[in-house]
Amino acid sequence: MSIEKCRLVDVPKISNPSGNLTFIEGGRHIPFEIKRVYYLYDVPGGAERGGHAHKALHQLIIAMSGSFDILLDDGYQRKSYHMNRSYYGLYLCPMVWREINNFSSGAVCLALASAPYDESDYIRNYDVFIAAARTNP
Ligand code: TYD
Repeated sequence: MSIEKCRLVDVPKISNPSGNLTFIEGGRHIPFEIKRVYYLYDVPGGAERGGHAHKALHQLIIAMSGSFDILLDDGYQRKSYHMNRSYYGLYLCPMVWREINNFSSGAVCLALASAPYDESDYIRNYDVFIAAARTNP
């Protein structure tokens, strides 16, 4: 699917002198129901995560703390996002290759996902991804 469909999504932020609060409701603030939440943390400097695409999964990725970069590739175009705020996320549609790197010290990467974990939904080989993406643009 085209990376044009991937976009930064602002999520509600309740600002308060004693601290900010953000909430996200599936199907309301993001275009899918949330079936799974996971997060990456204690990522060593120089490490790279991702390196795969999903056939059907929708996700929202948020930098809960610190920062990192997300590189997207739909088989035709590439686009990079620097993530460093807790009040917006990057919506990832199916069939987009992603690489996540340049993690700052203490970074926490939150992922909201539209389905439970399913290894058969992954495409982990880039050449296989390119062939599939260009067959079904
Ligand atoms: P993976 O999705 O490849 O991580 P990343 O994209 O961050 O590099 O998952 C790493 C491992 O964790 C892999 O063996 C599958 C497992 N895993 C689960 O068991 N459940 C999950 O919800 C996720 C996201 C991963």
